[in-house]
Amino acid sequence: MMNTKRIRTIQLIKHATKFQFNKHLTGLCYRYYSTSLEKSLVNQTALITGGSKGIGLSIAKKLSSRGCNCVLLSRNDKVLAKSILELCLINNLQHHSFIAYDLNDLKNIETKIVDPIFTDFTNVSILINCAGKSQASLLPFTSIDDICSLVNINLTSAMILTKFFIRNFLKERKNRKNNGEIPLNIINISSILAQDQYSIRGTSIYSTTKLGILGFTKNVTQDIKRDNIRCNVILPSFVKETEIGSTVNEELLKEQGIKTVTLEDVANKVINVIDKDMNGETIIV
Ligand SMILES: NC(=O)c1ccc[n+]([C@@H]2O[C@H](COP(=O)([O-])OP(=O)(O)OC[C@H]3O[C@@H](n4cnc5c(N)ncnc54)[C@H](OP(=O)(O)O)[C@@H]3O)[C@@H](O)[C@H]2O)c1
Repeated sequence: MMNTKRIRTIQLIKHATKFQFNKHLTGLCYRYYSTSLEKSLVNQTALITGGSKGIGLSIAKKLSSRGCNCVLLSRNDKVLAKSILELCLINNLQHHSFIAYDLNDLKNIETKIVDPIFTDFTNVSILINCAGKSQASLLPFTSIDDICSLVNINLTSAMILTKFFIRNFLKERKNRKNNGEIPLNIINISSILAQDQYSIRGTSIYSTTKLGILGFTKNVTQDIKRDNIRCNVILPSFVKETEIGSTVNEELLKEQGIKTVTLEDVANKVINVIDKDMNGETIIV
């Protein structure tokens, strides 16, 4: 017999470019017991862009260990399908999904990503803007397509997702679907390269997008201060273990004194931001 959740998932498939539902229990998760400092995220839902691997997946794992339903977004459906199997399921109601979508397509973000998630999940309360494209080319040799794509993926898509998440969140509260107690947490993943003292050859557009997302976070908090909506930005140092990390010239980073951190360090910081009810903060990892 088909239960309601399954029916809702099927409707979601119709909306999204590619949407999959997973209900496998992973053997690797331990039941989560919250302490007074750690918030339970049971019955809440998070969208993690760039959630198929690297930092995004590591954040999703952490959120799922607190009971959060996770929707992972990136372009490759095969990788996504494998990645959701790595997430925790700590109770029978928790479920994870994915959307295969290219964030260069800015026009369809509302209809293909935001609307389906808000229709099919309850308490959509976390947005992690983590998808990213790196650059290793001097500006004169960087194509116009690459420049636009870096800006679209690293900055514009995050601003558009933030806009629609805030609108839908406020609408849900007005319609009493959300009783107003669960805040909306928006966490943007920038980079240490957004800081004034660092500049690496061959990253002019990448670093500018990361500075952009830092400025966006600071300014958007002014628009949403009174609405139980929080927006913070994380500036990770060098994370070697990821695909983007593997493209970086480590010597150049060493010259600038940029330290190496782990996936776990970044994911812990994200969960810390939620636990501590931070808002408008710039957090360096
Ligand atoms: N690694 C570092 O040292 C470091 C340091 C500071 C900040 N960061 C930032 O951390 C974030 C995650 O990076 P990472 O190091 O974890 O690299 P990663 O492992 O390469 O992850 C990048 C993620 O973004 C997705 N993505 C890329 N292009 C996309 C597109 N057009 N549409 C949708 N999704 C797309 C990728 O999936 P698909 O390719 O399958 O689409 C993947 O899930 C990025 O914003 C990066 O700038 C990384």
